[in-house]
Amino acid sequence: MIYLADSANAKDVAGLMDRFPIEGVTTNPTIVARERADFGGLMADMRKVIGPDLMLHAQTMQTEAGAMVREALALREALGGNFFAKIPATAEGLKAIRALKGMGVQTTATAVFSAQQALLCARAGADFVAPYVNKLSDLCVDAISVVGEIVRLFDSFGLKTRVLSASFRNVDQVNQVALMGSHAITLPVSFFDKLIAHPMTDLALSGFQADWRSVYGDKKPEDMI
Ligand code: G3P
Repeated sequence: MIYLADSANAKDVAGLMDRFPIEGVTTNPTIVARERADFGGLMADMRKVIGPDLMLHAQTMQTEAGAMVREALALREALGGNFFAKIPATAEGLKAIRALKGMGVQTTATAVFSAQQALLCARAGADFVAPYVNKLSDLCVDAISVVGEIVRLFDSFGLKTRVLSASFRNVDQVNQVALMGSHAITLPVSFFDKLIAHPMTDLALSGFQADWRSVYGDKKPEDMI
């Protein structure tokens, strides 16, 4: 499973990339609006920070297929590099995904809440589908099983579409979708520290420090070889 950052803040993403192995960035209109800044500037800064090779997923705001396609083409033109147009999983979205596939534009079907939505988007030619895990859990739906169903359907029908799970509130949800075979995951920048931090790791490190110092004081291993 690969990790992406769900963010429109280039500075935050730069800090994250410095430490964590991320393969790209996803945004949505809510995340963009949170920055209260010009969209074009935000996305240009993001592309500058991540470079041309990392994925940048940006969402269309239109609801009719033709308008979605036009907007996706304009976004790809402006943002360049490894670009994915995020298209909502609606009937119009399916039409747009199919058209964009024909034009060689990579797409991510977004706001996916069921396995059948995911399968239809994959059949239409989506490169990724993005199921919203916590938003499903909030509705008392077993979101982890839905992700598992999508992965199984794609496997059993030999579809190349990848699952990009989104919307998380805790580390267990992340681990569960990884175990289900989600190919990718997108998380807010602040979430990554929760994934790596463990109190037992901290305890082990302080034990190593204390034991070393009790014999060698401030000497460093590299000074002794
Ligand atoms: O990218 C999808 C994500 O931003 C939506 O999920 O639950 O964090 O609003 P949530």
